[in-house]
Amino acid sequence: MKVIHNMTIHLLLAMIGTFVVIVGAQTQEGFISLDCGLPVEESPYDDSFNGLTFTSDSAFIQTGKSSRVDRSIILSKQYLTLRYFPEGKRNCYNLDVKRGTNYLIAVSSVYGNYDGLNLDPSFDIYIGPNKWISIDLAGRQNGTLDEIIYKARSNSLDICLVKTGATLPIISAIEIRPLRNNTYVTKSGSLRLSYRVYLNNSNGFIRYPDDVRDRIWDPFFGSSYTQITTNLDVNNSNAYEIPKTALQSAAIPKNASGPLVIIWKPKPSNAQVYLYMHFAEIQTLGPNERREFDVILKGNFNHSGFSPTKLKVFTLFTEEPMKCDSEGCRLELIKTPKSTLPPLINALEAYTVIEFPQLETSLSDVDAMKNIKVTYRVSKISWQGDPCLPKDWSWENVNCTYVDLATPPRINSLNLSKSGLTGSISPALQNLTQLQELDLSNNNLTGPVPSFLASMKTLSLILEGNPDLCKTSLCNPTKKKKFLLPAIASAASLLVIIVVVVALIFIFRKKKVPSDQHAPSPPSVPVTDIGNNSQSESSFLSTKIRFTYLEVQEMTNKFERALGEGGFGVVYHGCVNGTQQVAVKVLSQSSSQGYKHFKAEVELLMRVHHINLVSLVGYCDEGDHLALIYEYMPNGDLKQHLSGKRGGFVLSWENRLKIAVDSALGLEYLHTGCIPPIVHRDIKTTNILLDQNFQGKLADFGLSRSFPTGNETYVSTVVAGTPGYLDPEYYQTNWLTEKSDIYSFGIVLLEIITNQPIIQKSREKPDLVEWISSMITKGDIKSIMDPNLHQNYDIGSVWKAIEVAMSCVSPSSIRRPNMSRVVNDLKECLLSENSRTGESRDVESKGSMEFSRGIYTEVIPKAR
Ligand SMILES: *[C@@H]1O[C@H](CO)[C@@H](O)[C@H](O)[C@H]1NC(C)=O
Ligand SMILES: *[C@@H]1O[C@H](CO)[C@@H](O)[C@H](O)[C@H]1NC(C)=O
Ligand SMILES: *[C@@H]1O[C@H](CO)[C@@H](O)[C@H](O)[C@H]1NC(C)=O
Ligand SMILES: *[C@@H]1O[C@H](CO)[C@@H](O)[C@H](O)[C@H]1NC(C)=O
Ligand SMILES: *[C@@H]1O[C@H](CO)[C@@H](O)[C@H](O)[C@H]1NC(C)=O
Ligand SMILES: *[C@@H]1O[C@H](CO)[C@@H](O)[C@H](O)[C@H]1NC(C)=O
Ligand SMILES: *[C@@H]1O[C@H](CO)[C@@H](O)[C@H](O)[C@H]1NC(C)=O
Ligand SMILES: *[C@@H]1O[C@H](CO)[C@@H](O)[C@H](O)[C@H]1NC(C)=O
Ligand SMILES: *[C@@H]1O[C@H](CO)[C@@H](O)[C@H](O)[C@H]1NC(C)=O
Ligand SMILES: *[C@@H]1O[C@H](CO)[C@@H](O)[C@H](O)[C@H]1NC(C)=O
Repeated sequence: MKVIHNMTIHLLLAMIGTFVVIVGAQTQEGFISLDCGLPVEESPYDDSFNGLTFTSDSAFIQTGKSSRVDRSIILSKQYLTLRYFPEGKRNCYNLDVKRGTNYLIAVSSVYGNYDGLNLDPSFDIYIGPNKWISIDLAGRQNGTLDEIIYKARSNSLDICLVKTGATLPIISAIEIRPLRNNTYVTKSGSLRLSYRVYLNNSNGFIRYPDDVRDRIWDPFFGSSYTQITTNLDVNNSNAYEIPKTALQSAAIPKNASGPLVIIWKPKPSNAQVYLYMHFAEIQTLGPNERREFDVILKGNFNHSGFSPTKLKVFTLFTEEPMKCDSEGCRLELIKTPKSTLPPLINALEAYTVIEFPQLETSLSDVDAMKNIKVTYRVSKISWQGDPCLPKDWSWENVNCTYVDLATPPRINSLNLSKSGLTGSISPALQNLTQLQELDLSNNNLTGPVPSFLASMKTLSLILEGNPDLCKTSLCNPTKKKKFLLPAIASAASLLVIIVVVVALIFIFRKKKVPSDQHAPSPPSVPVTDIGNNSQSESSFLSTKIRFTYLEVQEMTNKFERALGEGGFGVVYHGCVNGTQQVAVKVLSQSSSQGYKHFKAEVELLMRVHHINLVSLVGYCDEGDHLALIYEYMPNGDLKQHLSGKRGGFVLSWENRLKIAVDSALGLEYLHTGCIPPIVHRDIKTTNILLDQNFQGKLADFGLSRSFPTGNETYVSTVVAGTPGYLDPEYYQTNWLTEKSDIYSFGIVLLEIITNQPIIQKSREKPDLVEWISSMITKGDIKSIMDPNLHQNYDIGSVWKAIEVAMSCVSPSSIRRPNMSRVVNDLKECLLSENSRTGESRDVESKGSMEFSRGIYTEVIPKAR
C-alpha cells in the first residue's frame, strides 16, 4: 500500500541522461511551445533533451518585459528566461487554437531571483474569464508546472496572469498539446492533473517523444510492490496513446495473494475525480496460469473479473466523476479466486474536475473589438484578454451587459473619445450589435459616417471634434453638438422598408401563379439583404387575402375582445364572413422592427402550409395599420395549459406527448420540408397553440429566417429569440442553424415534462437543464416530473422523453439530433404511453430504472 500525495509536479530540473532522445522522430503537430522572455533572435531552438521546438513568446503578447534567471544549477533552456509584468493588473497571452479540441495546457514559472529582490512571487492564472490556479512560488526554488486539460471554446485562447499582491506575475514557459477528442471526456468542466505515473522504480520521467502527446509521466513505486518488466514491444494502440516505455513495466503486490492498493487524497477533498488506468499483460503466462482481478474504487465502482491483454494496452476509466470519502480515494486490485497470478497495473492518471462556469464575451463582440484594437492601434494596457470579464478587469472605456454565468456578456458601450483615432470609421463597429453608446469624439477621423451606424436603432453616437469627418451630403453640417442619429436612422429605415417592399412584391408576384402549394417554393429574396436601391410602390400588392383596415375593424367588432398580447401587438378575436373565427394581431405601428417581423411573417406564411403550423387567413397593410389574421385557436397556448391558467384541468401525459409530436412535426416541416429550410427562431410554449381538438400548431413566425441555400449556416447580425429558450451556442457565435430551434424545442419538452420554470432562483439549481441533469444523475425521476400528473404515466416513455429533451439541449449543436429523429423518438414515447393506457400496471415497480453509471471500458470485455 502506498500513499501518493497530491503532487503538483515540479520537474523543472533537466534530468540529464535519464533517457535517450530520438530527435525528430515525431511531428509535434499542433504543439505550441513558448519559451517566455526568449529574445526573438534566439528563436526558435530545439530542446536538446527532448527535441521539442521552442519559440519566443513575443508574438503572442504585447506587454511585459523579459529577464534572465540568476541560477547556477543547470536548467532546461526554456526556464532560463522569463517574462514579468510590471504594468497592468492583468496581462494575457492570446493563442490560436481550434475550437472544440481538447488541449493539454501546461504553464511553468521559475523565479530564479531574476530581479535580485529574493521575493518569491505569487499571482493567479486565468483561462479566458475563469480562474484556473493561484501560483505561490514561496519555497519552490525549482519552480512550478501546472497542467490542465481544457476544451477550447473558440479559436482563440487567452491565458492571463493576474497580479494579486505586491509581487509581479512571472511566466517561464507555456506548452499546449492537442489531445484526441475522444479522450479525457468529462460530463462537465476541465481536468486538473492530480498525478500521472507509470509503475517503475527508476527515477526518470517520460514525456515527448516517447509520449506523442507530450504528457509527463512520473515514475512511482510502493515499497509493498514488486516490479515486473518486459523488453518486448507492447501494442499501445488505443485512443490514449500511452507511451510504450511506460507500459513495459508494471507493479504487482509483494504478497502474491494480497491486493495491490493505491490511496491518494484529492484536493480539495470533495473534488470530483476522474481516473484512467492502463493495463497490459507483460509476463508470459504458462498454460495453466491466469491473471484476473477485481478493480475496485471504494464507494464508486467494482469492475470484476478483469484480465489484462497480452502485450496490448487496455484502458479502464471512470466515465462519471467519482467522489472519495474523507480518507481519500482508494483503488484496490484484488485477485479473484480463479486467478493464479497477482493483479498488476502499468500506468495510472488521476484528475480533479475544475469548473469554468463563466462564458466568454460573445465571440462576435470579441472579434469586433480585436479588429478595432488593431485598426486604430489602441494601446491601452487593459485591452487584453476578454473585453468584459472578469468584471473587475474589463477593458477600459468599454461597458458590457451581464446576465448570468451561462450567458455571454455583450458590449453595450464604447468610448474612444480622445484616443488619437485616424482614418475612417471602422466597419468592424457594425458587428458590435448590442452597442447602445459610441463616443468617437475628439479624434482625427475622416470620411463619411457609414450608413450601418444609422441602422443601429438605439445607438447614441457622439462624433463631435472630428474636423474632417462628415463631409458627405447625408451628414449634418453642424458638428458642434453631440448628435444622435434619428434623422439618418429614419432615412435608413425608410430605405430598408422600401427595399423590403420591393422584395415582397417580387415574392408575391411569384406566388401569384402557384400550381401546387406543397411544392418547394423557389428560393426567396433574402429579406435581410439591403441590397441595391430601386423605386417602389408604397404597399403590398393586392391579393385576395388582403383586408382593408375598415374590414379589420368590422371583423373584430372594433377590437372588442382582446385574446392576448404578444411582442409586437395585441391579438383580438374576430369573425370573417360571419362564420370563420379568426385571431387578429394588430401591430403597434411605432417600431420598424415590428414592420420587419410583420413582413417576415407574411412572406413565410404565404409559402408554407402544414397542419401543424398556424395558417394565415389574411393581412392588412394600410398606411400605419398593419394586421395579421390567423386561424383561430380556441384552446390558447400550451403555456397556459401547463400553468393551470385554463380552467385548472391538467393535460395528461398522453396529451402532452401528442402536442409535442404535433409541434415537432411542424418544426420538421420547416426544417426539411421547405426549400430553402426555415429556422423558426422563437420556439417556446407560448408559441405552441392548440385548436379545438388540442392539436398543437406552431405560431409566430416574426423572427423566422430561411437560409440562402441548403445546408449552409447563417450568420445573423442580431441574435433574436426568447431568453431561456435561446441556443447558447447561437447566442455566442451568431451562427444560426436549424439546431438552434432544436435547442429551444428541447426546453419546451423539458417544460412539458416538468412543468417547472426555466429559471427559478429558489431551486437548488436555478437553471432547468442543470437541475434536471443533476436529478438524472441521482436517478431521481419522480421529482423531475410534473407532480400534477400524479405518476400517471408510463415510466419508460418518460425516460425516453427526457433523453430526447436532454439530447436536444446539448450545449454543442452537433450533438443535437435533427427534427426527424426527434419526431420518431417522440412517436415511440407516445406508442409506449398509449400501450399503457387502459392497462393497470404497477408504476412503482419500474420506477427504479437508472441511467448507466460507473466504469466504462474502452473495449467491452465480456465477463468470463
Ligand atoms: C477535435 O474536434 C474539433 C471540432 O469538433 C476538430 O476541429 C478537431 O480537428 C478535432 N481534433 C482532433 C485532434 O481530433
Ligand atoms: C529542487 O531540485 C533539487 C534537485 O532535484 C532538489 O534536491 C531540491 O530538493 C529541490 N528543491 C525543492 C524546494 O523542491
Ligand atoms: C523501468 O525500470 C527498469 C528496471 O528498473 C529500467 O530498466 C527501465 O529503464 C525503467 N523504465 C524507464 C522508462 O525508465
Ligand atoms: C495493435 O493492435 C491493433 C488493434 O488493436 C492492431 O490493429 C495493430 O495491428 C496492432 N499493432 C501491432 C504492431 O501489432
Ligand atoms: C498476504 O495476503 C493475504 C490475503 O490478503 C493475507 O491473508 C496474508 O496474511 C498475507 N501474507 C502476508 C505475509 O502478509
Ligand atoms: C466486486 O464484485 C465481485 C463480483 O461481482 C464480488 O465477488 C466482490 O465481492 C465485489 N467486491 C466488492 C468490494 O464489492
Ligand atoms: C468618454 O470619455 C471622455 C473622457 O475621455 C468623457 O469626457 C466622455 O464623457 C465619455 N463619454 C461618455 C459617453 O461617457
Ligand atoms: C461605463 O459605466 C460607467 C459607470 O456606470 C460610466 O461612468 C462610464 O461612463 C461608462 N462608460 C462608457 C464608455 O459608457
Ligand atoms: C463581422 O462579423 C462577420 C462574422 O463574424 C465577419 O465575417 C465580418 O468580416 C465582420 N465584419 C467586419 C467589418 O469586421
Ligand atoms: C489631428 O491632426 C492634426 C494634424 O494632423 C493635429 O494637429 C491634431 O492635434 C490632431 N487632433 C487630434 C484630436 O488628435
